[in-house]
Amino acid sequence: MTVQTFTPSATKAASENTVTQPTHTTDVSMKKLYIETQGCQMNEYDSHRMADLLGDSHGYVLTTNPNEADILLMNTCSIREKAQEKVFSELGRWRKLKEQNPDLVIGVGGCVASQEGDNIQKRAPYVDMVFGPQTLHRLPQMLDQHQAQVEKPKKEKIKLVDISFPDIEKFDFLPEPRVEGFKAFVSIMEGCSKYCSFCVVPYTRGEEVSRPLDDVLAEIAGLAEKGVREISLLGQNVNGYRGETFEGGICTFPELLRLVAEIPGIGRLRYTTSHPLEFSDELIQCYRDLPQMVSHLHLPVQSGSNDVLQAMKRNHTIDVYIDKIAKLRKVRPDMHLSSDFIIGFPGETDEHFAETLQFIKDLDFDHSYSFVYSKRPGTPASELPDDTPEQVKKDRLAQVQQVIKQSSIDKTDAMLGKIERVLIEKVSDKDPNLLIGTADNTRLVTFIGDATWVGRFAEIEITEIKTLNLVYGELLNLEPDVA
Ligand code: SAH
Ligand code: F3S
Repeated sequence: MTVQTFTPSATKAASENTVTQPTHTTDVSMKKLYIETQGCQMNEYDSHRMADLLGDSHGYVLTTNPNEADILLMNTCSIREKAQEKVFSELGRWRKLKEQNPDLVIGVGGCVASQEGDNIQKRAPYVDMVFGPQTLHRLPQMLDQHQAQVEKPKKEKIKLVDISFPDIEKFDFLPEPRVEGFKAFVSIMEGCSKYCSFCVVPYTRGEEVSRPLDDVLAEIAGLAEKGVREISLLGQNVNGYRGETFEGGICTFPELLRLVAEIPGIGRLRYTTSHPLEFSDELIQCYRDLPQMVSHLHLPVQSGSNDVLQAMKRNHTIDVYIDKIAKLRKVRPDMHLSSDFIIGFPGETDEHFAETLQFIKDLDFDHSYSFVYSKRPGTPASELPDDTPEQVKKDRLAQVQQVIKQSSIDKTDAMLGKIERVLIEKVSDKDPNLLIGTADNTRLVTFIGDATWVGRFAEIEITEIKTLNLVYGELLNLEPDVA
């Protein structure tokens, strides 16, 4: 299992597990909360909100050790079968902890909870609370309800399962995000209405609902005041953002980007994820006009074959994607592009696969994610005949990953001699004269500098390539603090 702190990267594979890390030192007498997060950045964001919520309401502090926790929460992912199976194997381990400590509270949230509802407790009766991605703000009340019925006989207990989709009310109940460092995620919309034929998200997280514009802007302004310099706007399909304005109008995603870029202090803007179909000219113009927007885009395409795209119900052709990227590269020639690919979709032939491989080479992608197709219950693709042997799919995946890896190595190598804009994030643990920051393309950049520069942006000339994700450089220019 990978354990990592909550630092935004451009994107991450949706099957990694993370343990939500405490940001403050804890007192041994405090009640402790352990959160394991599976899946996407939306889930990571939600896990942090859960920690803030239970910290504020019940005084819980985070721990990274499940053995010392009073509450164990699992924020689950159901995007692929493998991720879903992990839930029950991990819950089996938690059951043992509960046998040793009967007061331990176990909660399951996220997309598996949303999909399975009270089936979770049928399979794992020691689970006390089940909540969905849109009801996590009700955790404090659920916990109170649980505590109130602990002593009751089993047959009098009500099942604590709430996986409804109560519009966007969640954000009205979440405390202000706590700030650690210079980067923050801001969720701008929930759910997805695209209904790609393979995907469970519209069913587990619901249809698209956007947060009102003023709420988003106020949250970002508050974060900027607390020192945040880089914002990652989050949503399953951020391009579908239609935030209500104070005057009762609708703000689109490109309009939102322009407003966020005006907030003093915000020196860098990322977002994840958007759909190619709604990757509009207005959005491309934002790249032309807003220097805060990074030259890095994660734009999932899923396949390089028109036949497969059609079967996936992506509603666009390869040429549409290619045209949009060409337009984007016209206004931002140094654009780093990454994507998601599903390999072995039902009906994918050797020819279709060859087209995908060629497409990846032609589009010159940076680090991308690829997955073998996983049949998800209730999705239209799960009904399609699929006669490709599993081993063939695995071999195709290995080929794709080889090409992807080589192209990210090439992208890092190509940084040599270039000038990168870097957000300086910290002093190196190993050498107090070295600073560490991130480039637009998420590579770590190390260079000699002064600790007082942390939190500022700098232009760094890259002088040495160390690893795939780490380069060395020299300071050319230190930008004034953007606040
Ligand atoms: N818009 C979201 C999509 C979430 S799913 C985002 O990009 O954050 C993330 C990725 O998981 C998708 O882009 C797709 O490549 C992959 N995925 C989704 N459903 C899948 C399935 N049934 N099998 C394999 N991979 C899948
Ligand atoms: Fe899933 Fe397609 Fe939406 S991949 S999250 S239904 S854009």
